[in-house]
Parts: sequence; structure tokens; C-alpha cells
Amino acid sequence: MRTASRTAEHVALFRALETRRRDRLFADDLAIRFLPARYRWLVRSAALPPLGHRIARIIDRRYPGGPRTSAVARTRLIDDLLAAAEPDQALLLGAGYDSRAHRLPGMPLTYEVDHPLTQRAKRQRVADRPHVRYVPVDLAADRLVTALDGFPRKRTAVVWEGVTNYLTEEAVDTTLRDLVAITAPGSTVIFTYVDRAALDADTPWHRVVAKVGEPWTFGFRPAEVPGYLVERGLNLKGDLSAAEAAARYHRHEPAAGFYRIAWAEVR
Ligand SMILES: C[S@@+](CC[C@H](N)C(=O)[O-])C[C@H]1O[C@@H](n2cnc3c(N)ncnc32)[C@H](O)[C@@H]1O
Repeated sequence: MRTASRTAEHVALFRALETRRRDRLFADDLAIRFLPARYRWLVRSAALPPLGHRIARIIDRRYPGGPRTSAVARTRLIDDLLAAAEPDQALLLGAGYDSRAHRLPGMPLTYEVDHPLTQRAKRQRVADRPHVRYVPVDLAADRLVTALDGFPRKRTAVVWEGVTNYLTEEAVDTTLRDLVAITAPGSTVIFTYVDRAALDADTPWHRVVAKVGEPWTFGFRPAEVPGYLVERGLNLKGDLSAAEAAARYHRHEPAAGFYRIAWAEVR
């Protein structure tokens, strides 16, 4: 990455737009801060319901397959999984413009780990809080276990949302092993992935991430995930597509079948 993540900006846009809906699945009031002026203007316009629906429809038509709807569904599902985990501490890995440390009630001490360029951009827009610690790491070059030297080995909820698809197979493997090494048994690892069968498809969604310099590079086949995790000290607890997650919240706008949210427990 040569700049702060553009895909993190896209997710913040989808969350900011969702926040303006009357039937919103969550409220992320910080998301708008991470957006450039042209997107902020769009979000403010979306506060008027007919315009909000129209903007959503235009995005969904331009990027069919559901990047917006999938980001919204995964955000809400992960909010709920994080709350249910009741962790002693949280680790947002590849945190981007995730504002859970600020917006979810009762968040424990939260470590935000991200690529240095994205993390720097985030810290310019959000005030430091005593329960949030920032750790810059380029997972393509550095080991998590080294960057998080001294990380307390407690029951942790890890959120690794929207990141594995931008890494190499080796970085995903090493990072998962590091997560198991540094967290206590009973910890939860929530991660998203792209179904490998769809990794090389040629859709507007695939094209836009490639165009902003963040092409998808990694995916799992859903059937291999349970065994892959067992080999690394984790037991899979659930694995839903974004489309299934959206249905769980009665959101009847098409979301992706190939974009998946999985959660696992450290043994
Ligand atoms: C699509 S964004 C998702 C951000 C956030 N988790 C969310 O869901 O809002 C991808 C994130 O992965 C991070 N990322 C990509 N490659 C990385 C790397 N090599 N090391 C660390 N973070 C990386 C980016 O900085 C960015 O924050």
C-alpha cells in the first residue's frame, strides 16, 4: 500500500450512509469524518429519505454484487458477535475506519492494529481515548507477534474484518498462528474472507478494488475453513455469507454470497 487504504474509505462511506437511514442496522456517527469532501456531501444529502434510497440504488446498480449491502450486513453481524463474546480486551486487526472502540457501549481495552499509512490517517481524524491503543503493522512485511510484544494473554475478541482478501496466503497463515499464540483459550477470532471460487471474477466490485491499488489476492473455499482452522488451534463456530447475514437482519437488498463472515474460538 502506498497511501491510506481507499477500500477502508469505501466501507466508511457505506456505514455513514447506513447511519442516515431510518431503518438502519447500526449507527456509526464517526464514519463521515473519514470521508473526503465529495463523499461527505453525498452522505449529508442522504439524510433526506428519498435521496438516501436513491443514492443507495445508484451505488448498488453501479456495483452489483453488493459491496454496500455486504459491508452493512457484516458490520451489524460483527457488532453482535463482539458483544456476545464479552471479551476482556479487543483487537481490531486491519482496523481501518472501524469506530467500534468508540461507538459500541462497554468496549474494553482495544488494540487497533493497521497498516501505518491507514492508521496515521485515522488518528488525524479521531481523538485519542485512554482505552484505545494503536499499533502500526504492515502484515505483508512484519509479524503480528513481534509488533504486539507484551500483549496481555487474556480472553480477546479479534475482529479481522475486510482484510484477509488483501493479504498473501503466507501472511494469513502466519497472522492466524500469531493470534492463537498471543490470545488466551476461549478467545474469539472473527474474520471475513472471499470465497476463492469468486476471487478472480471480473465484476465492477473486483475492478474498483484493483483500480484503487488493493486487488483481492486471497480467498478460502468455505469447505476447507474448518480443517484449516483446526490445524492452527481454532474451532470454527460459524460461517455465514453476507447474503445470509443480511437475511438474518431482514434486510432484503441483495448482498454477496461469496463474501463471508466466519468466527472461531481459540482452543
Ligand atoms: C477494506 S479495509 C477494512 C477496514 C476495517 N477493518 C473495516 O472493516 O472497516 C482493509 C484494511 O486492511 C488494511 N490492510 C491491508 N493490507 C494490510 C497490510 N499489509 N498490513 C496491515 N493492514 C493492511 C488496510 O489498511 C485497511 O485498514
